Amino acid sequence: MAKSSCSVLFALFIAFFPLCLCSQTYGSGYLFPQFYDHSCPQAQDIVKSIVSKAFAKDPRMAASLLRLHFHDCFVKGCDASLLLDSSGSIVSEKRSNPNRNSARGFEVIDEIKYALEKECPETVSCADALALAARDSTVLTGGPSWEVPLGRRDSKGASLSGSNNDIPAPNNTFQTILTKFKRQGLDLVDLVALSGSHTIGNSRCTSFRQRLYNQSGNGKPDMTLDQSYAATLRPRCPRSGGDQNLFFLDFVTPTKFDNHYFKNLIMYKGLLSSDEVLFTKNRESKELVKLYAANEDAFFEQFAKSMVKMGNISPLTGARGEIRRVCRRVNHV
Ligand code: HEM
Ligand SMILES: *[C@@H]1O[C@H](CO)[C@@H](O)[C@H](O)[C@H]1NC(C)=O
Repeated sequence: MAKSSCSVLFALFIAFFPLCLCSQTYGSGYLFPQFYDHSCPQAQDIVKSIVSKAFAKDPRMAASLLRLHFHDCFVKGCDASLLLDSSGSIVSEKRSNPNRNSARGFEVIDEIKYALEKECPETVSCADALALAARDSTVLTGGPSWEVPLGRRDSKGASLSGSNNDIPAPNNTFQTILTKFKRQGLDLVDLVALSGSHTIGNSRCTSFRQRLYNQSGNGKPDMTLDQSYAATLRPRCPRSGGDQNLFFLDFVTPTKFDNHYFKNLIMYKGLLSSDEVLFTKNRESKELVKLYAANEDAFFEQFAKSMVKMGNISPLTGARGEIRRVCRRVNHV
């Protein structure tokens, strides 16, 4: 009798062990890295090969794809809402202030999705494609790697107002930016680590012009911006005109994912106001900037953790949402 009750317990343990493991490790969304291991074993290789090809043609693409995952996750969760074009009742997030004339890489996601559909029809979500492309882009530029929890499904709608309101603006105060992160379940440590993404990629003049010429018209620029660095920026970012001119977010190692972004902040050479405030407006974040500037391993380790955390923002799972066949539109209009 003792023997049979023991085997019942053992059977129960075996039955529920994977569930316990998943819910503890991955939270309520039940995302896990092996999600496509049986349904589409080639999924991760397909994404990686197309991201690598796009990166070889245009190195900036790595930064652009990393940013797309962020702009997806901060609006209604990581559900590929960002990728929908306007049609019918859908107003595309691509028109929002943070995305208009700025977000790029949508053609690469189209190409990834086309290849995924060919190999495994209606299986791999656009939201997961974005999460994988963000990881691959980080690795290609020299950053850390991590296992990407998978199993997100795609939304059937978009939110233009969410995109305008929930994604921080480059001239938001430190407190506003932190509040916007906290609304997503991310904390100050995540904010500092994830801002380290600005170690790669570009910004338009219009995103930081305010810092070069004073807002109130008294001719006094932002005092937390190094003056010799500001002088190098002004010629191509005049008071008016040149809005779309591009500048490196990390002027020292612009295409390498490293900790130079944090070294720049310490020298008051962060390009965006939202970058420099991490060093100038809060004691706790200042200490983290110093830590990551001194210790690249500490930055990489936290970046990987925070990317997984960001990737877990309210995913659609189970029967919610759908697996879009084309990332730009819902399956049935
Ligand atoms: C903390 C609040 C943040 C603000 C205010 C912010 C703002 C911006 C702005 C204004 C640009 C330049 C856009 C342009 O002028 O066209 C930019 C670029 C970029 N952002 Fe952020 N960002 C933030 C956080 C993040 C996070 C969390 C990530 C990724 C995890 C990220 C990844 C990037 C990348 C990679 C680029 C370069 C994109 C490219 O070259 O195409 N940013 N960001
Ligand atoms: C921030 O930038 C936006 C867009 O350029 C501008 O409309 C707004 O007035 C700025 N906010 C502050 C506080 O300067």
